[in-house]
Amino acid sequence: MEQIDRLRTLGLFDSRVPRYTSYPTAPIFSRDIGAPFQEDCLRALDPEEPVSVYLHVPFCERLCWFCACQTQGTKTLSPVESYVETMEAELALMAQMLPEGVRMGHLHWGGGTPTILPPHLIARVAAAIRSVFPAAEPFEFSVETDPTMIDTTKVVALQAAGMTRASIGIQDFAPEVQEAIGRIQSFETTRDCIAALRAAGVTSLNTDLVYGLPHQTLERLARTVEQVLTLSPDRIALFGYAHVPHMSKRQRLIDESALPGDEERFLLAQMAQEMFTAAGYIPIGIDHFARPADSMAEAAVAGRLRRNFQGYTADACPTLIGLGASSISRLPKGYVQNAAATAAYLQRIGSGSLAGTRGHVFTADDRLRGRAIEQLMCDFRIDQRALESEFGPDAARLRPVHAAVKATFGDVVDLSPDGIFVHPEGRAVIRMMAARYDGYGVSGHRYSKAS
Ligand SMILES: C[S@@+](CC[C@H](N)C(=O)[O-])C[C@H]1O[C@@H](n2cnc3c(N)ncnc32)[C@H](O)[C@@H]1O
Ligand code: SF4
Repeated sequence: MEQIDRLRTLGLFDSRVPRYTSYPTAPIFSRDIGAPFQEDCLRALDPEEPVSVYLHVPFCERLCWFCACQTQGTKTLSPVESYVETMEAELALMAQMLPEGVRMGHLHWGGGTPTILPPHLIARVAAAIRSVFPAAEPFEFSVETDPTMIDTTKVVALQAAGMTRASIGIQDFAPEVQEAIGRIQSFETTRDCIAALRAAGVTSLNTDLVYGLPHQTLERLARTVEQVLTLSPDRIALFGYAHVPHMSKRQRLIDESALPGDEERFLLAQMAQEMFTAAGYIPIGIDHFARPADSMAEAAVAGRLRRNFQGYTADACPTLIGLGASSISRLPKGYVQNAAATAAYLQRIGSGSLAGTRGHVFTADDRLRGRAIEQLMCDFRIDQRALESEFGPDAARLRPVHAAVKATFGDVVDLSPDGIFVHPEGRAVIRMMAARYDGYGVSGHRYSKAS
């Protein structure tokens, strides 16, 4: 209770701040930056440096009420087929712009539900991407997988396409919680999906859980965690439920009176964290856990952990190329986001242009602050010396911010000429600290709760 009181005093339960999967954050992107900038950046890529590729599949057969992802429901395959055709056209446009020899180190399919694709479309999409972005060595390919939307034929197709990692959506196994979030998924279905993926040689498995869901209690979440541990995932993501019904209309179906209160929410996260660490998982950043031998845990221990639009990653490729509706590319000179609505994306590509409609050109200040925020979110410290060697004397601009952070957050932070270090008790407020380094401010945007 003492810790909760302290975090309350620091404003944890009243703050709404970004999750900083990018800096600057997407709400400040400008409509002045779009396809022409995207094309210039693609043409200027260095073929010696592998890129990461993200494909967004904005379709689901079921639409879970809690979900804040950019997706739409469909019971038929016809919109998915048109989408695949458009994505092939997007790749063909990119092929004309990319320098000879660009290779792909990481491929991620997210959504929505990529496993809505039937086997023949899985093969077609994978082949289209690989023809424009041949795989580098080593190569990783991860897919967000809904256990209720996959079968053996899809597993075989994904295996043939070279999938190395799967991320399995669970959220919570308690029937009361599943009913309250409009997502029914048995433990047995999930277990069988994981067994099929392992049998197909998928060497790394992640599971997604969410705390702060309606009707979630300590007992129910503890039982879910125990069940998840029996599945021995290599990584576990434990996301705080982001209740943003102004952005995700389907969340209006969630009974707000059944959501855990601030303290309960904090205790749910704390209990799950303790259970994962007791089971031998290494805590990573604000919401991940990994087995010590997993590449994400190794990256975290070695100070090589990074943060991008998919969250934490061991992927060091500086360039991320987004394909599909709403996907965001991180290009050497800035960010570009494709048209968010599927219809607008189809229309853009259909007209023979790339689909970028908003973005941001990096300034030198963005790069400095972005790296400081990434260090904080990944390592719970800011290494001022490393920033100075990377950005030169300009990095000194952050020293007053370090002092202000120390003044606000007190003894959970150590301040020294080497930068700042956040103690484990201060990790709960790390997003609030990161917001202090945000040169664009966080007011005027409706972010999710900091807790
Ligand atoms: C894009 S979804 C893909 C999951 C996949 N379609 C499935 O259902 O299994 C990826 C993850 O985002 C997380 N997520 C979605 N909405 C969320 C929200 N409102 N708050 C926190 N996490 C959320 C969930 O854990 C989910 O598994
Ligand atoms: S959780 Fe997965 S299946 Fe459910 S709506 Fe979100 S993306 Fe679709």
